[in-house]
Amino acid sequence: MSDLVIKPSGGVKGEVVLPGDKSISHRSVLFASIADGDTTINGFLTGEDTLNTARAVQSLGITVDGLGSSHLVVRGKGLDGLSEPASVLDLGNSGTGMRLIAGLLAGQDFFSILTGDQYLRKRPMARIVEPLRMMGAAIEGRSGGRLAPLAIRGGGRRTKAIDFNGPVASAQVKSALLLAGLYADGVTTVQEPSKSRDHTERMFSFFGVDIRVEGTKVSVKGRQALRPKGVVEIPADISSAAFFMVAACIVPGSDLLIRNVGVNPTRTGVIDVLSAMGADIALESRREQAGEPVADIRVRYRKLRATEVSGEVIPRAIDEIPVLSVAAAFAEGTTVIRDAAELRVKESDRIATMAAELAKTGVLVRELPDGMEITGRDRLKGAVCESHGDHRIAMSMAIAGLAADNETVIRDAAWIDTSFPGFERLLRQSAY
Ligand code: S3P
Repeated sequence: MSDLVIKPSGGVKGEVVLPGDKSISHRSVLFASIADGDTTINGFLTGEDTLNTARAVQSLGITVDGLGSSHLVVRGKGLDGLSEPASVLDLGNSGTGMRLIAGLLAGQDFFSILTGDQYLRKRPMARIVEPLRMMGAAIEGRSGGRLAPLAIRGGGRRTKAIDFNGPVASAQVKSALLLAGLYADGVTTVQEPSKSRDHTERMFSFFGVDIRVEGTKVSVKGRQALRPKGVVEIPADISSAAFFMVAACIVPGSDLLIRNVGVNPTRTGVIDVLSAMGADIALESRREQAGEPVADIRVRYRKLRATEVSGEVIPRAIDEIPVLSVAAAFAEGTTVIRDAAELRVKESDRIATMAAELAKTGVLVRELPDGMEITGRDRLKGAVCESHGDHRIAMSMAIAGLAADNETVIRDAAWIDTSFPGFERLLRQSAY
């Protein structure tokens, strides 16, 4: 198990180009697989999570050229072109991979089994299994279908449209149901309590699918063909950029330009929260790529102050809360994070794991059922931190280490590769 050693930085500087967006990468290869022809994908994330999704697509009988590189060509065979996999599909650590593929498989006229690693097999699946059963798929799993492995006999032509009003704002649930809804006879509608990331809606439109959005309600009519558009250009992942943004916010002397980052408003909660904390962040050269807004992000060091993070910003910053809690650890005052109970069912229980790791550095943290209270200080102590098998915990503590008094060690840091291959190299390039 690899250790990552981080020394204090004298300033995070220069320009960085970060790997492709994870959410958009998963969707690009899945949607291209059921499009009527070839799609080229540029900027595909070569992290373990998205590679597992691309391998699953291959196991469903679709040719994917270039696997392992960021340039893929997917030879889509249309809505009914997938075939029964010969073996179990292993999605590794990825909740997005498992839940979106379960939705796609719920509409197929064949049998499949989905599994994942020890962490993914503990994450809640009832949130997709129950509505997908209502749509006509037969799904079994451990604990009555609450946990993977999941065995799915899809509804095929008998897939039924539903009107679903979910209790949590979840793009994974929404996307699973919309994918199954593509196979249904009629209109499938998903309503969320607040808006989660809308990459599925945007990519459906990009592939020519008529999808209706009214506030937090999304509807799609079944049996629509996906028309390939040639090329999907994937921007850098704002969730990966968040680590570099916070690094520049907490290390005095920093001035960093992060190129070509996706700035979809359903993902920019991290910018809103850091700005509310007084950070110096500017979006430059705004443009659009494959239906997604993109910009360069410039961040310069400025002392942060505490804030409250709750309500509608939570789903727009859900994956960035661990690194935002690092920003809070350096801010003046006590930051309160609420309404974020979903963090407890991510790759780790991110409330418990962040509270435990930050406490090792001397930060005063109080765990709440749905968040944390964090009192900032000027410098943290270097510590020996654990990843808890969670890429974002490992990277968050590495960023904290840049502004610590002495050396920080992150144990079991190889998990970082699930979402951010090259993290260590890029960090060393800009922080030293
Ligand atoms: C994702 C949705 C979010 C997020 C995850 C990626 C997606 O999960 O935490 O990392 O690509 O749809 P939920 O939809 O479960 O909140």
